[in-house]
Amino acid sequence: MCGIVGYIGRRQAYPVLIKGLHRLEYRGYDSAGVALISAGGSLNVYKSQGKVSDLEDTAQNRDLTGCIGIGHTRWATHGEPGFRNAHPHLSQSGRLAIVHNGIIENYASLREMLIGQGRTFNSDTDTEVVVQLIEYIQEKDGLSFVASVQRALQMVQGAYAVAVLDMRQPDTIVAARKGSPLVVGVGDDELFLGSDASPIVEYTDRVIYLDDEDMVVLRQDAAITLMTVRGERKTPQIQQVTMDVSQLEKGGYDHFMLKEICEQPQSLRSCLQSVRQTLIGPDAERVFSLLQNANRVIITACGTSWHAGLVAKYAIERMTRVPVEVDYASEFRYRQPVINPGDVVIAVSQSGETADTLAAIGMAKEQGAGVLSVCNVIGSSIPRTSDCVIYTMAGPEIGVASTKAFTAQVAVLTMLALVWGHRKGTVGEAEYTALMQQLDTLPDKIGRIIAQKETVRKMAQTLSFAPSCLYIGRGCNYPVALEGALKLKEISYIHAEGYPAAEMKHGPIALISQEMPVVTVATESAVYDKLVSNIQEIRARQGRVMAVVTEGDTEVARMADSYVAVPQVAECLSPILNIVPLQLLSYYVACLKGCDVDQPRNLAKSVTVE
Ligand code: AGP
Repeated sequence: MCGIVGYIGRRQAYPVLIKGLHRLEYRGYDSAGVALISAGGSLNVYKSQGKVSDLEDTAQNRDLTGCIGIGHTRWATHGEPGFRNAHPHLSQSGRLAIVHNGIIENYASLREMLIGQGRTFNSDTDTEVVVQLIEYIQEKDGLSFVASVQRALQMVQGAYAVAVLDMRQPDTIVAARKGSPLVVGVGDDELFLGSDASPIVEYTDRVIYLDDEDMVVLRQDAAITLMTVRGERKTPQIQQVTMDVSQLEKGGYDHFMLKEICEQPQSLRSCLQSVRQTLIGPDAERVFSLLQNANRVIITACGTSWHAGLVAKYAIERMTRVPVEVDYASEFRYRQPVINPGDVVIAVSQSGETADTLAAIGMAKEQGAGVLSVCNVIGSSIPRTSDCVIYTMAGPEIGVASTKAFTAQVAVLTMLALVWGHRKGTVGEAEYTALMQQLDTLPDKIGRIIAQKETVRKMAQTLSFAPSCLYIGRGCNYPVALEGALKLKEISYIHAEGYPAAEMKHGPIALISQEMPVVTVATESAVYDKLVSNIQEIRARQGRVMAVVTEGDTEVARMADSYVAVPQVAECLSPILNIVPLQLLSYYVACLKGCDVDQPRNLAKSVTVE
């Protein structure tokens, strides 16, 4: 997925665009570029392979004047990362410039048509096809800039968030979205564009979240014309965004990921306060009117959010006795699932923009399912497509590796299970009260785990030399093993695999050797003794064990080569604590290996393309 920015107003555009691209760099960092219409009326485009800082080096000492511009930071889909495919892309005449986030599915046939009309292309991207199509329509049909963008967008199929400049109209930016997010910032005599609110919030807290097939014309005099790509006029709905700029800074930490790991006491406190209000407060009926008659829950998500969904399966089934399926969104959307009346789909997503998850809930709604989303970004596409939403309120998560969002997602889903079970009578008063009280102790308990980060850093030294690693857990901590393995592989590039501990003897135990560490989530649980046996099986084959244990544990702590102890808590709440040492472990291993922790290779923070 890519990041788009735009500016038109009273300031010089370039500084606003560059700062905005830095804010959006977590969305993709293969290449970056800007297009400016200078005070003299020329269209200047500067782009570079690599990061936004490389673009700044490229643009140094060039004409950076102008109060109107667009910018882009790329995660490659069509066309390899590099200068040739970096955005902005120009039309053949050089008059038009475009930036785009999404995938144009019929770009090949459009490109062939345009080549047949004498158009030549400079890149391999689907994006260049759009800007060439706009110019082709302008010239062939004599349409205005706005009308030709409109016509072109009616012809393309697929997902887009685009911003377009025409050097002959230096007082106008035309932008539109379908399937990829785009936000308009409304300042004093100035207007902004962003793929999300983060490049906008330091200038204004007034935003317009564009809907699918919305098109907006931004003018120098700060006039906004909102319509659909079919030309139907719409009234802009200006909303206030509550994001604080300081949340977008590292705040003295070396990396966003470490900051966000260490922020978890606060983010979880904020999450618990908000979700308690949602589930027990006056508007709880919005959620439970959807759930109360559910015969089955289908949780759909990707990556870390899918792991949170897997934890939720254990909690919801145990506390409500409602059957739960957990499906990767990319599989769910294509496997023609049986969706019955009375099914409720829960979509879990940090960004609220993951294309597979968005498509999965669209399909589920078409088949009559109710959709509840659990999301961290207010106003993002998935909540806007759902029947209702529970926001995790963890604050902006910039590091590509999801951490505080995961603990917030698990907390939300566990509290949902608990309150739902209590309402159904499948959770008794005493258990309900005890667990609700224990939930409130988790932020401080996470703080005690973070205080042991030096212990974890020492454990990381062993792991950093491993060619691969196994993570094992049981029950609701099996998904924690999966999540710990994902953290390690996505930021340190060490292959790691999560497994249910009892499955070791069905194959993976063949891998056990001195060279491959086994990270074991072995805190207090109903199956603790079984896990001890699993660890003994590993030790008996010279396997090396690193363990997460409950404070006071003497058995696994004695067997393990190294361990970190977490505070005691009810088993159903333990995933929220047990993942924290594994987050820190992956972070320190990645640092030891000199990896780019916040922007790991090939990844992006939110995958808004299939
Ligand atoms: C997790 O660390 C990864 N960044 C990735 O797996 C992520 O969880 C996945 O892409 C889903 O994103 P979402 O929660 O924003 O939908």
